[in-house]
Parts: sequence; C-alpha cells; structure tokens
Amino acid sequence: MAIRTAILTISDMCAQGKRADTSGQTVKEILPEDTFEVCQKTIIPDDYETITRTLRRFSDEQNIEIVLTTGGTGLGPRDVTPEATTAVCDRKVPGFAEILRSESYKKTPNAVLSRGVAGLRDNTLIINLPGSPKAVRECLEIILNVLPHAVEMMRGGGH
Ligand code: MTE
Repeated sequence: MAIRTAILTISDMCAQGKRADTSGQTVKEILPEDTFEVCQKTIIPDDYETITRTLRRFSDEQNIEIVLTTGGTGLGPRDVTPEATTAVCDRKVPGFAEILRSESYKKTPNAVLSRGVAGLRDNTLIINLPGSPKAVRECLEIILNVLPHAVEMMRGGGH
C-alpha cells in the first residue's frame, strides 16, 4: 500500500504568491510515485497557529502517514516550523534531524542553521526539511530509503 504523504511548504513569500513553490514541487518530483501517494500539497505562511492546525488536520482527519515540511527551520524572526512541529508531536524521532544536519554539513556548513525536527503524532511521521530546493534535494536523498521501513513499523509491522 502506497504511503499516504503530504507535502507542506511553509513560506510567507510562497503563501502570498510572491514566489513559486519550487521546494514543494521538488519534494513531489523526488518521491517515487509507486511508493508515495501525495495526498496533499499545501502552501501556508510562517504562522505558528496555521502550521499546528494544518499538521493536526493532516494527522487527525486525513490519515496522512508522512508529512514532509519545507521551510521555516532557520533563524529568521518568522521561522517557527520546528516549534509548531514539536507542539503537535507526541513522540520525538531525533535520528532524522541528527543525520540531516551531520550529512548536510559535509556539503555546506550552513547546514547547522537548520533547526528542523522530526516526530510522531499518532500514526503520522512529520519531518522538517529546510526551505531551498537544493537543500530539499540533498536532504531527501539522505533519508528517502528509510521512509518505507519507518511506515512499516508505524503500521505495526515488524522491525
Ligand atoms: N541543508 C542542506 N542539505 N543544503 C543546504 O543548502 N541550507 C541551509 C540549511 N540546511 C542547506 C541545508 C541554510 S542556508 C539555512 S538558512 C537552513 O537550512 C534553514 O533553512 P530554512 O529557513 O529555509 O528552513
């Protein structure tokens, strides 16, 4: 069964239509269609309440299994994606952020500036990716192969 996936672009500029959502589109293009069913592709501003509300809806009402967010993980005054993600999750999955930062650092020292987190809300795994299409490509490459096994476990399958 394909993984029910949501792509959530978190960007004031994209939400206002001032910038094309190339990062969300990049996520979509990288995910193999036979494994990932993209059920939602949504663009919202860097607003804490909007982010938490959207993540809750994906998990509680739409049975999304993986949410890949892009953007809002940096140090800017409006960057609150990690805080909003943490607020809606009941369990942390720190390995994703650990490997993303350490592997990304080999490509760019700026990798340390992403504060992205990952966690579970019920049966939904939420993973924060940085905002640029380049970062999205580099980061997805690092974790993509782990995602099917993660979902297998979440569905109650063995290890
Ligand atoms: N990670 C990878 N793999 N490649 C990148 O180019 N850019 C960094 C970092 N992580 C980058 C990366 C930069 S420049 C920033 S500011 C942070 O992600 C946060 O990005 P965000 O605020 O768009 O989420």
